[in-house]
Amino acid sequence: MSEGDESAALTELAKRRGFFFGSSEAYGGVGGFYTYGPQGAALKSNVEEAWRERFAVQEGNLEIEAPTIMPEPVFEASGHLDGFDDMLVECAECGESHRADHLIEDNSELEDAETLSPEAAAEKIADLGLVCPTCGADLAGQSVEDFNLMFETNIGPGSSTPGYLRPETAQGIFVEFPRIKEYARNSLPFGVTQVGRAYRNEISPRKSIVRTREFTQAELEHFIDPERDEADLSAVEDVEVLLYPATEQEADDGDYVETTIGEAVDDGIIGNAWLGYFLGIAQEWYETVGVDMDRFRFRQHLAGERAHYSSDCWDAESEVDGDWIEIAGFSYRSDYDLSKHGEYGDDDFTVFQQYDEPKTVERAVVDPDMATLGPEFGAQAADVAEALETLAERDPDAFDADEVTLDVDGEEITVDTDVANFAVETQTEAGEHITPHVVEPSFGIDRTVYTLLAHAYETDEVDGEARSYLSLSPSVAPTNVGVFPLVSNVDGLVDLADDVAEELRAAGFAVVYDDSGSIGRRYRRQDEVGTPFCITIDRDGLEGDGADTVTIRERDSGKQVRLPVDDLVGTLVGLRAGTASFDDVLDDNEVVEA
Ligand code: GAP
Repeated sequence: MSEGDESAALTELAKRRGFFFGSSEAYGGVGGFYTYGPQGAALKSNVEEAWRERFAVQEGNLEIEAPTIMPEPVFEASGHLDGFDDMLVECAECGESHRADHLIEDNSELEDAETLSPEAAAEKIADLGLVCPTCGADLAGQSVEDFNLMFETNIGPGSSTPGYLRPETAQGIFVEFPRIKEYARNSLPFGVTQVGRAYRNEISPRKSIVRTREFTQAELEHFIDPERDEADLSAVEDVEVLLYPATEQEADDGDYVETTIGEAVDDGIIGNAWLGYFLGIAQEWYETVGVDMDRFRFRQHLAGERAHYSSDCWDAESEVDGDWIEIAGFSYRSDYDLSKHGEYGDDDFTVFQQYDEPKTVERAVVDPDMATLGPEFGAQAADVAEALETLAERDPDAFDADEVTLDVDGEEITVDTDVANFAVETQTEAGEHITPHVVEPSFGIDRTVYTLLAHAYETDEVDGEARSYLSLSPSVAPTNVGVFPLVSNVDGLVDLADDVAEELRAAGFAVVYDDSGSIGRRYRRQDEVGTPFCITIDRDGLEGDGADTVTIRERDSGKQVRLPVDDLVGTLVGLRAGTASFDDVLDDNEVVEA
């Protein structure tokens, strides 16, 4: 398909067959909000479940569910109040707002306009002679401003408790760290996952569910001790990946690097083994849920592109209509978040790490003489004592002088060194408090759904008729199986079809029962929504050699076999889990000519 066609066909199919559509359309709709219809809700929920299974259950991680609204101090600490901005340019003529970096990228060769400063973006807009996409007015001379993407609200009546809708699910994990670490028995490394809604007041939502104002993230915050916890790459070292490192993006003749996870980590292309580990399992997961690996890459962020909390980041990107879409980010967040919450919050965001052997250390200590400090400093005495302790830890040599100078709440205070009772003591320590570092795989579920639909959309011809179908993976398809009684006027045939449908539903399969229209029409309806298998109950299944048998047809190839009803559940379990292929089923059963 040519560029643009894939998205257009997908959006049309999505609306017509109930995958997704703009929400509140009866009231004119509002940009950036989408409703998932029955097919889309089922597909999305299956993708979320597949993610949970791989990243929470199989990895042995802890899953939580935190509120989507959090008070302002959380986002002061996290840096989102100050640093979570996009570049906005407003049209002086029609007043419409646009994302400056997107306008530049859409109208030039530049792929990383996000890294420009607002001033440089304004200059670029003028140089390129860009006009307002809404009314066509010249945008040259318009200033480019930073626009904070968080939705603000008030918690409770009045405006005394401002809050924000979380812009990432991650903060719900970080703020609960003091409690969660107890459940993890204070034992690093451990991972915490959350699947839930995030909200961003995007300047220009676009490409249907690709850039919305309310979306679903599946995030894993993996807490490690950077000095001790090493990633075990044995399970992923041979995974072949297509990498686009920052250095290659910046080079004139830069190119992709085709390598394995093991080699990329050894060669320092992926600078952190934990990031390598998560890229490896993510690539395998994307493949199992149906992302086309010929349209998939990992791209490293350029320095100016990284979020305020990130020291290295790789995006998983999928190609749709010639554009690369970021579907997940893998970020090394270091101790940024936990340190900030430790500084701003009222709890302990560290973990006590026991040494293998107790250590003998020399430690500078003070025992401030409160009988002297009390009368001299009154209510400030405790703060002065604390400042003495801090100074002893930070700069013990300062106590060589007769007086020490302290900073107490911004005020410079000088005290006699004697009042500190400074000493260097030899202590035996069993361990130390450390602030864990965080490695974060953060998946966008909506963009994954979009990619799966785009990569699964196929057209061909069957019996001289054009057909469009979704070759969705059986592991995530909204409906697992269609059940069709061939005719309704033969004794026992409808009963057998009912029994088959009931048995499959009881075994946990999503079943569509369809007894209307020609069998070809029924197949086409299911093909179009990606149902991987359809079972037809015909006369041959009622008596003679074929008693209690049915046919099962595979969506993409249209091939069919006849198999006993008793084998159905077992066969479908294997097909859905990917432990058996339809070729295996063809080998083991009587093939039926379509
Ligand atoms: N906690 C890290 C974080 O939020 P991010 O790269 O800003 O990182 C992670 O977001 C993922 O969330 C993205 O890779 C993308 O798939 C998805 N995402 C971000 N903004 C989105 C939006 N406006 N609409 C849909 N998905 C979005």
